[in-house]
Amino acid sequence: MSKIHAAITAVGGYVPEDKMTNADLEKIVETNDEWITSRTGIKERRILKGEGLGTSDMAVHAVQQIIDKTGIDPLDIELLICATTTPDFTFPATANVITDKAGLKNAWGYDINAACSGFIYALTIAAQFIETGKHKKIIVVGGDKMSSILNFEDRATCIIFGDGCGAVLLEPNTDGFGIIDSILKSDGAGRAYLHQKAGGSVKPATIETVMNKEHFVYQEGQTVFKFAVTNMADVAYQIMQRNELTSDNVTWLVPHQANKRIIDATRERMGLDEEKVMVNIQRYGNTTNGTLPLCLWEWESKLRKGDNIVLAAFGGGFTWGSTYIKWAYDGK
Ligand code: UT7
Repeated sequence: MSKIHAAITAVGGYVPEDKMTNADLEKIVETNDEWITSRTGIKERRILKGEGLGTSDMAVHAVQQIIDKTGIDPLDIELLICATTTPDFTFPATANVITDKAGLKNAWGYDINAACSGFIYALTIAAQFIETGKHKKIIVVGGDKMSSILNFEDRATCIIFGDGCGAVLLEPNTDGFGIIDSILKSDGAGRAYLHQKAGGSVKPATIETVMNKEHFVYQEGQTVFKFAVTNMADVAYQIMQRNELTSDNVTWLVPHQANKRIIDATRERMGLDEEKVMVNIQRYGNTTNGTLPLCLWEWESKLRKGDNIVLAAFGGGFTWGSTYIKWAYDGK
């Protein structure tokens, strides 16, 4: 029997309606459009507004799109893995909330947290369940409500992030299409430079932690930038070499959208023209686990069966990785 690959067979996505532009941020913190655009490439980001809405509410829209597009019976989904850094609750897992809200009554599920690399990690994990023959229909969700952990008094972090969520359906393919290879990395020493100080078991929430604003993203941007720019480019280059990919036969680079300068460095290392790179950072900012599936969602209609697609990400942890996909269908 020919090898089973896990192929993405549908993509869904959701970004909230409310836009926050650089001009809006100028009214909140001491910043300006020129600084944000030149340092990051971001022009605006989306913010999920509304009482009681969390990451799962965006995910349900993305999952529902997959169900509507494919006509698949929600009861046929066997597993849902949710990559998020802003779960609805510490527990239960957001995956459990999504399966309930989306009516995936037969699916089991769990969350994984690898910060901005979470979607690549989750995709790789899910692919194993397909490759072993254990499951035939899995949904992988990547998304974050970053606005829930942003300090809108800290101009160094609040300008970068946004809210959004994407999802993909994985099914078995025995014709050589699907997820071909992944390289995943982590270095926990990097936790010092990008983390949330309180709210975990080391420092549970108290009045002091709230007053000290320790439940927000803490980032030492320059250090993270240095690690990101090298490691994301290196790992993307490694996956090309390992799979005999060249700048000519790579059809698309799907990079994590943290900073346009990091994206450009990765593209240059891979020797790709700008036209081969999916970039929507200017509209959505950094949606953490949402960036990669949201790119696939926006570019889905341009994708063709047989396209060689390289995903690459870097994030908190540190975590980083790259995945090579031979795309399985013509987008409409
Ligand atoms: O997705 C997860 C992984 N995260 C990343 O990959 C992010 C990696 N880091 C970055 O993308 C960049 O480091 C940032 C975009 C976060 C910051 O850009 P930078 O070029 O590294 O700026 P910087 O932190 O070195 O700050 C330069 C200057 C500072 O002023 P002084 O000390 O030179 O006077 C900052 O105070 O810019 C100032 N600054 C700002 N000015 C206007 C910082 N934030 C702002 C701002 N508006 N929003």
